[in-house]
Formats: sequence, structure tokens, C-alpha cells
Amino acid sequence: MNIAVFVSGRGSNLHAILNSAELEALCRISVVCSDKLDCHAFQIAHQYNIPFFSVSESKKNGFVTFQMLPSIFAEKQIELIVLAGFLKLIPKDFIGTFPFKIINIHPALLPSFGGKGMYGNRVHEAVFKSSAKVSGATVHFVNENYDEGLIIDQAAVSIADANSAEEIAQRVLILEHALLPSVIAKIAQRKIEIKNNRVYLI
Ligand code: GAR
Repeated sequence: MNIAVFVSGRGSNLHAILNSAELEALCRISVVCSDKLDCHAFQIAHQYNIPFFSVSESKKNGFVTFQMLPSIFAEKQIELIVLAGFLKLIPKDFIGTFPFKIINIHPALLPSFGGKGMYGNRVHEAVFKSSAKVSGATVHFVNENYDEGLIIDQAAVSIADANSAEEIAQRVLILEHALLPSVIAKIAQRKIEIKNNRVYLI
């Protein structure tokens, strides 16, 4: 299965997908896209010889538009689009072109601590302030709203003894690096079913 990975910054989840032993035989990252002209994740893509594109809603120097992506993805036979730390809203038309083919990882247990402006450390700050005892990571299908769409899988960790948002972030990131490849593997193996508005992993 050919996949496209969308990133905005560091790219540690991209790295986790690339280094997953389970995914090695199941899929290939054929393209990396970012809303930035340059980011650390692009350096990772470069190291692994993966083509990368900067993508924007409107025409700008150095960027392709979301409208151009379907033909690029068709040529590369992309079957799954993975948002791995991509912080921009995906345009509605683009989502309509790829129904149930776009997934996102979020660093909290949705439906709590999601939505516009809730990304990266802001999420962990909010979780820390809330006094919650558990946090985690969620992988979900993408719809036109931030951090909504059917939940595919989640992993949780105790944060009862965490002393800072940074500590929560570290614990959750470890979960993310295992959860995202495992969900991609299930999708690649067609071990996923949607019924009664819920997602079942088989
Ligand atoms: C990850 O923690 C990811 O869950 C989060 O951004 C980080 C990207 O890290 N995504 C969101 O907050 C989306 N709402 P990475 O670039 O090292 O993979």
C-alpha cells in the first residue's frame, strides 16, 4: 500500500512509520507533504529519498495546491493519507475526494482536548491544567472539523504522577510512535470495519 504522510514540523511520527518493522512489508511512504516550505520532517524525507511537496490552499511560490494533489496521488497510487503532526485544516473538497482514506493522530484522548488551536504542547498544557489522571493518543478518520471523525484506535497512559506538560508530552509521544504504525498496519491488511458509526479493528 502506498501512503502519503502530511507533516508540519519535527517529523518524529514520520520517522516512527519509516522505522516500523511491522510496516516494512505492508506499505511504503511514497510522498511527504507539508504546509511549510521547509521543516525537519522534510529532512527525514530527503534522507529516505521520498519525494516531498509543500502544499497550500492557494497558489504560492514553491507550493502545490490541494487541487493538484489528487492527480499527483493517483499517479503514485496513494491509498492512504496520514496526517502525522499536520497542523492545518484539510479542505473539505480534498476530504470528499478521499473518503475514509485520511487519518490523523492527535496527542490526547479525543473527544477531549481537541479542536481548533489544540495541537502539540498546547494539548499537553490543557491536559496538565485539567488535573486529568490519564492521557493518551488517538488515531481517527479526518472530517472537515479539527480532531473530529470516527475514532479508529486509542492508547492511554497514567499521568497521575506527572509534574509538567512536558512530562505528559514525552509519555504520550511514546504511545503515538507505536499507535500510528499499528493502525496503518491494520488498514493495510484490511483488518478494519466500520459499522454502527464505530470503527472495529479485527
Ligand atoms: C504529535 O504529537 C502529533 O500528535 C501532534 O503534533 C505532534 C507532531 O510531532 N498533532 C496534533 O497536535 C494534531 N492536532 P511530530 O512532528 O514529531 O510527529
